Amino acid sequence: MSTNTVDKPRKVTTATLRKMKNEGEKIAMLTAYDYSMARLVDGAGMDIILVGDSATNVMAGNATTLPMTLDEMIYHARCVARGTERALVVADMPFGTYQGDAIAAVHNAVRLMKESGCEAVKIEGGAEIRESIERILSAGIPVMAHLGLTPQSVNKFGGYGIRAKEEAEAEKLLADAKMVEELGCFALVLEKIPAALAEKVAKSISIPVIGIGAGSGVDGQVLVVNDMLGMNQGFRPKFLRLYADLQTVITDSLHHYISDVKSLSFPSPTEQY
Ligand code: KIV
Repeated sequence: MSTNTVDKPRKVTTATLRKMKNEGEKIAMLTAYDYSMARLVDGAGMDIILVGDSATNVMAGNATTLPMTLDEMIYHARCVARGTERALVVADMPFGTYQGDAIAAVHNAVRLMKESGCEAVKIEGGAEIRESIERILSAGIPVMAHLGLTPQSVNKFGGYGIRAKEEAEAEKLLADAKMVEELGCFALVLEKIPAALAEKVAKSISIPVIGIGAGSGVDGQVLVVNDMLGMNQGFRPKFLRLYADLQTVITDSLHHYISDVKSLSFPSPTEQY
């Protein structure tokens, strides 16, 4: 009897990520919001796929992440989960689904897991949302924390500038990182903070720390897939490396198609029945 497991890639779990940190292997994480992209990202060997609430920026054209609803997130996360075999699928809890009311938070996290098939949730904040983190963890749901620039708080911050440059904010961030580790979060995202602080945090806690605009001294990196593939060349923060120029590739292809249609070169005799 064949077990047929020879070519099957090993599923990434929260335990895999912990082992990777312990062994010094960097963790590659990228966003995806739909089935087709998830298949490509997963097939390439990504460790974590994040169904970020940045979906509402890049998919729906909203200026901030605040408008994203739980139903919209469930839809995107379900599409991604369907297209993923190996990577750990983490979905963002949208703004307003976990702040303030810890009972509502666990109810919303359960819905997100149950209705989408994602394997963990990510939530933004530290001590202020401690009770929600505890409740969600107590339901057996793995939680990835997110500190530093937390885009759902853009109106409190007054913009998307670098966070924790001042001593007091840096100290609070380090304390929050230790708190989320102690509570049992399986990983932490640090966004747009000084590289030296991010490295200090990664060395101070045992759970994997994934950075975006947080330098190289952390345990892994995350980017927004549409940004790193160059689909929106208007967005060029310092931390972003462009791995492709899909804006040019797609626009050139579209011009080519329009020209072929208008000149009657498409479809050719071999492209019809
Ligand atoms: O929503 C998102 O894409 C994120 C990443 C930028 C970390 O939270």
